[in-house]
Amino acid sequence: MRIPNTFGFDVKAALYAEYDSVEELEKMIAEGRITSPFLHMGCGSNLLFVKDYDGIVLHSRIGGMEVTAEDDEQVCVRVGAGVIWDDFVAYCVERGWYGAENLSLIPGETGASAVQNIGAYGVEVKDLILSVETVNIRGEKRIYQKDECEYAYRKSLFKKPEMKSVFVTYVNFILGKKECYTLDYGTIRQELAKHPAVNLATLRQVIIDIRNSKLPDPKVLGNAGSFFMNPIVPRALFERLLHQYPSMPHYEVDADRVKIPAGWMIDQCGWKGKALGPAAVHDKQALVLVNLGGATGKDVVALSDAVRASVKEKFGVEIWPEVNFIE
Ligand code: EPU
Repeated sequence: MRIPNTFGFDVKAALYAEYDSVEELEKMIAEGRITSPFLHMGCGSNLLFVKDYDGIVLHSRIGGMEVTAEDDEQVCVRVGAGVIWDDFVAYCVERGWYGAENLSLIPGETGASAVQNIGAYGVEVKDLILSVETVNIRGEKRIYQKDECEYAYRKSLFKKPEMKSVFVTYVNFILGKKECYTLDYGTIRQELAKHPAVNLATLRQVIIDIRNSKLPDPKVLGNAGSFFMNPIVPRALFERLLHQYPSMPHYEVDADRVKIPAGWMIDQCGWKGKALGPAAVHDKQALVLVNLGGATGKDVVALSDAVRASVKEKFGVEIWPEVNFIE
């Protein structure tokens, strides 16, 4: 069965199985239908299948967005893992709830958002998460509170190999009801100034417009968003690079470390818009690798290796894929 993936690779699993509720998942487990090897995935917007998967691919279709608590200041919402992430963002914006709007239009589903700690424009999903509900391969339920989830830049407890058999079923979020925006990233303020008013709907629109201007639509050009993580480097190395490249963009992390945009480094290496066979570096955002048509996972891995080698040679910095490789 073909595995859905936003790179548009033609990859197959021995079995692709979906479930609509926790009860259905528990039943599949109890009946011994989930045999090894298995892979639990969202809609494949952050995965790179290097070859066909010789096992069971599982996908949650648990839906529903339900208010579980609220007062004048905040609201708690329980969201099914299979809910499309941007549908949840739109739901919050329509109701006047603050917090998710900067994460507009990120592809993928809510369960995966909590695994990947998705982030954009100065916000990470961990900023909104209260807890993550799970079921493991033995059918045991457990709720992880946010502070147990080991969230960091594009990282979480759930990404660790030993958590492969823990499936996210629901995510509990907390949103604000009082006006509060995150506007300091990149050109947000500048773009917002073109709108007559600052409100949740205009901010969502600005984010959508910025994303659409840089990031390719996977339905048109296969891709998985940012292919690499932005490397966090020791301050001494950053100082050396800044001396050499005074206009190098960067973000402060802490006293000892600074984050450098991998997209900028790849661009400086001359890769933007360049192809290696049927895989290419996107011409509007060098952090994104695209399938020009007919590429396989191996083609994209070859391009990724070549790009990483260039960055290492020119800047002395290792960059690592953000996309998860499925071998
Ligand atoms: N830049 C270039 N050339 C490029 C790309 C970027 O010079 O080809 C420069 C930009 O001019 C800017 C800096 O690099 O000064 C950063 O670029 P941008 O703001 O586009 O963000 P990014 O660091 O490339 C990250 C996230 C994106 C997220 C944006 C906005 C990661 C791995 N990526 O990209 O997330 O949308 O910030 O917050 O952290 C994703 O994870 O799939 C994703 C798209």
